[in-house]
Amino acid sequence: MPSCDVIIIGAGAAGLMCAMEAGKRGRRVLVLDHAKAPGEKIRISGGGRCNFTNRSVTPDNFLSKNPRFCISALRRYTQHDFIALVEKHGIAYHERAWGQMFCDHSAQQITTMLLAECREAGVQVQVKTRVENITQNAGGFQLDIGQEALSCTAVVIATGGPSIPQIGATGWGYEIAKQFGMPVVQPEAALVPLKFNPDMLRRFQALSGNALHVVASCNGQQFEEALLFTHRGVSGPAILQISSYWQTGDEVRVNLVPDQDVFSILKDKKHSQPKQELRTALSAIFPKRLAHCLCEDAQYDGRLAETADKKLRHLANHMQDWRFIPSGTEGFRKAEVTRGGVDTDGLSSQTFESKTVPGLYFIGEVVDVTGHLGGFNFQWAWSSGHAAGQAV
Ligand code: FDA
Repeated sequence: MPSCDVIIIGAGAAGLMCAMEAGKRGRRVLVLDHAKAPGEKIRISGGGRCNFTNRSVTPDNFLSKNPRFCISALRRYTQHDFIALVEKHGIAYHERAWGQMFCDHSAQQITTMLLAECREAGVQVQVKTRVENITQNAGGFQLDIGQEALSCTAVVIATGGPSIPQIGATGWGYEIAKQFGMPVVQPEAALVPLKFNPDMLRRFQALSGNALHVVASCNGQQFEEALLFTHRGVSGPAILQISSYWQTGDEVRVNLVPDQDVFSILKDKKHSQPKQELRTALSAIFPKRLAHCLCEDAQYDGRLAETADKKLRHLANHMQDWRFIPSGTEGFRKAEVTRGGVDTDGLSSQTFESKTVPGLYFIGEVVDVTGHLGGFNFQWAWSSGHAAGQAV
């Protein structure tokens, strides 16, 4: 039975980082992946440019049942360490709004970089390989791969979450955790568009394609970014961010005009242009289609002069504190990440080894740590992969 020290399942961001670090320590490392190529999610990330980290990373950028779990790994391998690696490989990059760091050319450069580091560290990467079964034995673990069995002293589960199953993403890591008696926090789609119910969809579907700068809030969190109306509901960075905090039945609140006082604007216009239609007055603040749609939604029409101040205030509130209850999310097919996952209670925050199954490790997105939009999910993959790579 062929053997090595460490088998890592998942040749994604976390798995490759862990592999190269363990390889540098002289460990014999094999990485297995069922996809046709390593780093498929890296390839499609950041619109093909990979938002590989963020200039400013703090524990507040992550959700978890235990918000302190991420601190140690993030401290020991920081965004600056990853940027230094990118620079060492001569990959051109740039910074966008909110400190987001992107490749200038192609996300594929990040995978190429990780594979080069793995090669140099003597790591073997084998794709198109499905692991049927993992069993624990006296010396460590046995992995069944078709007719073949592999043995190793440590297994690292780096299989990510089930978002975008079209490219080989699975929830297999949760099954392995459960097989070994480890708790799993219910996985849910996150960083995902939200859907309108049929009634709202009918009222707002004409707005599909309209984007505006908003503040979206839910469950005590708020994000000031763009909102995009879609043909199913709402998306855009502000909504993706807030979706990570949204639970079924929760109300989402949106200030559609965060930088202006809509009531004051309408009141001033009522004095200066009393004959103006309300919807025309609103067109000075919003895209025309949106202004019309919001007036209809609030059931307001007519001229400014005919509209009592109380009504103007009500309409302004409707726009600056627009509330709706999404009927759901667009699910794992459209989600950028999965929130929930292997419960951090069962893992060491230093090494990512299971507290109950020595030699079994979980890293990256499969763990119940989820980053905000903006490069934080990759930083979690690098930091957790690096930490486990020092320990396996
Ligand atoms: P990852 O998913 O990268 O890797 C898991 C690997 O395991 C895959 O190669 C998969 O094939 C393999 N695998 C799964 N099940 C298996 C099984 N049963 N057997 C064998 N192999 C198996 N984040 C960010 O910070 N910046 C960004 O720009 C983006 N952009 C982005 C765009 C899109 C469209 C998506 C879907 C996601 C992002 N993300 C992102 C999120 C980011 O891609 C994600 O958080 C990381 O890739 C997670 O890294 P992991 O290594 O944990 O999993």
